[in-house]
Amino acid sequence: MKAYELHPHIFLSDWNNPNIALVKGKGMYQWDVHGNEYIDSCSGAVNVGLGYGREDMAEVLKKQAIELSYLTRFTSVPPILDECSELMAEFTGMDRFFMTSGGSEANEMAFRIAKAYWFNMGYPTKNKIMSRWLSYHGNTYATACAGGNLARKNDMAAYAVDDGHINAPTCYHCPYHKTCETCNFECANELEDALINRGPSNYAAFLMEPIGGTTTAAMTPPEGYFKRIKEICDKYDLLIIADEVLAGYGRAGKPMSIDWFGIQPDIASLAKCISGGYFPVGAVAVNKRVSEAFQKVGHYYAGFTWAGNPIACAVTIENTKIIQRENLLENVNLQGDYLKSELIKMRDRHPLIGDVRGKGLLIGVELVKDHATRTCLPNEQRALAKVMQAGYANGVILEAASGKMKRGLEGEAILLAPYFSITRAETDLLLERLDAIFTMAEKQIDFN
Ligand SMILES: Cc1ncc(COP(=O)(O)O)c(C=O)c1O
Repeated sequence: MKAYELHPHIFLSDWNNPNIALVKGKGMYQWDVHGNEYIDSCSGAVNVGLGYGREDMAEVLKKQAIELSYLTRFTSVPPILDECSELMAEFTGMDRFFMTSGGSEANEMAFRIAKAYWFNMGYPTKNKIMSRWLSYHGNTYATACAGGNLARKNDMAAYAVDDGHINAPTCYHCPYHKTCETCNFECANELEDALINRGPSNYAAFLMEPIGGTTTAAMTPPEGYFKRIKEICDKYDLLIIADEVLAGYGRAGKPMSIDWFGIQPDIASLAKCISGGYFPVGAVAVNKRVSEAFQKVGHYYAGFTWAGNPIACAVTIENTKIIQRENLLENVNLQGDYLKSELIKMRDRHPLIGDVRGKGLLIGVELVKDHATRTCLPNEQRALAKVMQAGYANGVILEAASGKMKRGLEGEAILLAPYFSITRAETDLLLERLDAIFTMAEKQIDFN
């Protein structure tokens, strides 16, 4: 077959060029053109929260396309957009929403809103965004610059705007060589140092993924981390932007993953599971503090042709109702806890399994040479590629987290994120296949 498409990973390696041509999906399963079945353990790009082939979602798409397929916010006050925003507000606890077509656009808007907030307050120099190493915020210009995954910053454009990054709470490979017992939130305190050095009067916001995604494989900060971050942001007048694109909207077992840590962000970006995986939708959400400040100014120019599209709204509304009606957050936590605890048990018989972490159905499994010493496998072993290939051989599509958790130099992981309705029997089947995958990969890895 001649390829007309430019692959998003320009330098293909064997795990992201698996040569499977998927044509059909149902629930957590997908089938290729030859009829081979795969478990999609990562819900597409961690976005197909509702699983594949739901007829209720298809009906909603069709109905809305026939009723009113398009409108622009500049010429109308669309009731469906209001209904969608109200439902998202009830679900997340945020105040106002601006719809986008995806996560990068949502983050772009989050940055602009944060800068405009301070500009309107009379602080025009407060216009930089401090972020963290080992983060991913999108593939547009500003989001790539804010990102901190070195492997994804491989073109100079991704460094063009350098507003500063601090270390992430990678507890398994603590950059300060601390343990849970001796941790004094050194990586959070770094925010204060960075602000003092660069001048807090230049900073609009601090940006992070509350629970990590495809770079850090569900990196989860320790209890108390966000309390310290909030103290510093309050002290130096910084807004908090939570990038909830991947971990939000139920994926990590809460409406927003930052809910686990008891703080409300000023701005949150949402996408992926917001539509259950049935339409390209994103949104930037603001809390009362920010929305009230903007209402005083009265005007902020923003808009994308497809922002607030009625089909996107209809799908988001239906997805939110399904999550609530089918108690999916409960299932996400129930099956997520079970999957995690079984993987921890599996570590006893698989030397390859290191840290197992995450919340809800967002679970990272780090691949190591030695779990006792937390030693990473050398990059030349290509352990992740071997695990991905063993995944295809055993009928599981896996998500690679290749962000090099140990200071951006080494450390690979897989990210498990099955659909929200996964049953216990399906979780057991996934575990059974994972067991076979680790066994197969371990035979090809040199642990000496
Ligand atoms: C945490 C995070 N932020 C932003 C994005 C960018 O979203 P999109 O690909 O919809 O532009 C992603 C995508 O993977 C993500 O995981």
